[in-house]
Amino acid sequence: MLLGLLLLLQVTASAALAWDTFVVPHAPGENDTPGLLALVTKHSTNATIMFSKGVTYNMFTAIKFPVLSNVEIRIEGNLTYPANISAVQAVVGGSGFPGSWFTFSGGTNVTLRGSTDPRWGWVDGHGQAWWDAVQQVNRPHGWAFNHITNGVIRDMKLWKPVAWNFATSGSVNVHAFNNRILAVSDTSSFPFNTDGFSAGGTNLLFENNYIVNGDDCLTVGSGAHNITWRNSYCEGGHGLSIGSLGKGGSVADVQNVFIEKTFMKSTLYGARFKSWTGGNGLARNVTWKDITFVDVAFPIYVTQNYWDQGIGPRPNASDTLNNTHIADFTFQNFVGTIRDKPYVEGSCVSDPCWYAVANATGREVVILDLYPGTAQSIVAKDVFSTTQTGRPVAVMCNSTTVTNDVGFRCWNGPFVRTRAGL
Ligand SMILES: *[C@@H]1O[C@H](CO)[C@@H](O)[C@H](O)[C@H]1NC(C)=O
Ligand SMILES: *[C@@H]1O[C@H](CO)[C@@H](O)[C@H](O)[C@H]1NC(C)=O
Ligand SMILES: *[C@@H]1O[C@H](CO)[C@@H](O)[C@H](O)[C@H]1NC(C)=O
Ligand SMILES: *[C@@H]1O[C@H](CO)[C@@H](O)[C@H](O)[C@H]1NC(C)=O
Ligand SMILES: *[C@@H]1O[C@H](CO)[C@@H](O)[C@H](O)[C@H]1NC(C)=O
Ligand SMILES: *[C@@H]1O[C@H](CO)[C@@H](O)[C@H](O)[C@H]1NC(C)=O
Ligand SMILES: *[C@@H]1O[C@H](CO)[C@@H](O)[C@H](O)[C@H]1NC(C)=O
Ligand SMILES: *[C@@H]1O[C@H](CO)[C@@H](O)[C@H](O)[C@H]1NC(C)=O
Ligand SMILES: *[C@@H]1O[C@H](CO)[C@@H](O)[C@H](O)[C@H]1NC(C)=O
Ligand SMILES: *[C@@H]1O[C@H](CO)[C@@H](O)[C@H](O)[C@H]1NC(C)=O
Repeated sequence: MLLGLLLLLQVTASAALAWDTFVVPHAPGENDTPGLLALVTKHSTNATIMFSKGVTYNMFTAIKFPVLSNVEIRIEGNLTYPANISAVQAVVGGSGFPGSWFTFSGGTNVTLRGSTDPRWGWVDGHGQAWWDAVQQVNRPHGWAFNHITNGVIRDMKLWKPVAWNFATSGSVNVHAFNNRILAVSDTSSFPFNTDGFSAGGTNLLFENNYIVNGDDCLTVGSGAHNITWRNSYCEGGHGLSIGSLGKGGSVADVQNVFIEKTFMKSTLYGARFKSWTGGNGLARNVTWKDITFVDVAFPIYVTQNYWDQGIGPRPNASDTLNNTHIADFTFQNFVGTIRDKPYVEGSCVSDPCWYAVANATGREVVILDLYPGTAQSIVAKDVFSTTQTGRPVAVMCNSTTVTNDVGFRCWNGPFVRTRAGL
């Protein structure tokens, strides 16, 4: 009995001792990525890999992390991409580029953790020069946190990232919180394609994130199940999105998404769903709740008819074409002001703009652009909005495409609440 207890204590002690912290080596002016890779390859289990406070590390090339088990990557120092655009492009365009500047692919109990010191722990992408040059060739995506089981992304701070920020494709049980993404241009240039979080995988919780960017704040892709997003701030980008799904006839699968308590400031969209004409599969049980919006052009926008204007005319609805089905979509408690003063959003580079909706008045709080026979139980309730100009709030909806009371009169006209909208 006593011996057993002693053995247990000993095992516990040795397991605790097996956890070590290793500091990433740094040499001024040199690329610190090879040293990081060597370190994390040597210590890929039960370890903290530490970027020290007081040091600015040069991440001059991309890294693909080995499969990790019980590893924390701790960023207390600053990290910098090359400031030189062509140096980054050479890496992204080169053979062996792993897909993102920081690529995780596989692992268990992996934590990516930034600093709570406001001066440190920033990852600087030097995006300003890219935006000013409208440079969109070989842009580096930021952090792929893919195929991780039991992961944490916390306290990360990204400064002027060039492209997408975090992706969690194929991961299970991930908690992403207290992260900050600032893709803000100091000039009139636009931070194109700086998506915040791309949610793929199962059982993912995103909360208390703060994002100022130029594309989706959240984007939920096919294969995503059980996704929760809450208590967050989105500014300047393209909203809380599902999709796009069903491109090229592919079969989409999205289930159980719950998005709530988010403040949307000067974004193009609030809640958004997008699937391609001619897609396939199902997105079901998706809720957006308690969304406050200020200066948002399209607070609620659903299209099952997305198509590439560059390729040709919009395909017609027909019996021979499949489409991505949607079911049980709820938009609840949307309160705010619709941007109906004249504007040209920064990502608009064509005439008409890619986001233009034919025949819209610009005062729509909800646009449901649905495909006949493929949308079930879509409802918008507790919607309370005004326009910036004080003109009446409108909606767009085609009653031949819905089968239930959607919470407002389904027509192209003024917003009139109905029974289901209360
Ligand atoms: C890592 O720690 C766990 C206990 O937390 C232990 O079971 C395992 O053997 C350790 N692995 C290595 C490679 O040290
Ligand atoms: C998971 O990693 C954390 C550090 O990030 C560590 O404290 C914890 O013990 C690990 N869990 C297991 C089950 O090893
Ligand atoms: C930028 O990088 C390119 C490609 O690596 C290199 O040829 C060029 O000399 C660099 N420019 C500066 C100013 O360092
Ligand atoms: C760390 O990087 C951020 C973003 O580039 C910068 O604002 C901050 O001053 C840097 N911290 C230090 C101590 O240099
Ligand atoms: C998703 O959540 C539901 C309800 O909590 C649970 O029954 C289901 O097992 C989860 N799905 C997966 C794939 O983990
Ligand atoms: C719908 O999703 C919620 C999470 O948002 C989950 O709790 C609930 O069980 C799901 N309902 C069904 C019928 O799958
Ligand atoms: C859609 O239908 C209209 C009128 O029936 C026709 O003129 C047009 O060519 C069709 N478009 C496509 C892409 O088939
Ligand atoms: C429609 O979906 C069915 C079942 O997934 C598939 O067999 C068929 O080929 C699809 N049709 C088109 C036009 O994509
Ligand atoms: C826009 O309105 C015009 C005139 O009412 C109509 O002919 C046209 O079909 C509408 N376009 C769309 C895409 O609804
Ligand atoms: C409503 O949808 C039906 C079916 O797709 C279509 O035939 C009709 O033209 C649409 N009406 C309007 C006003 O867009």
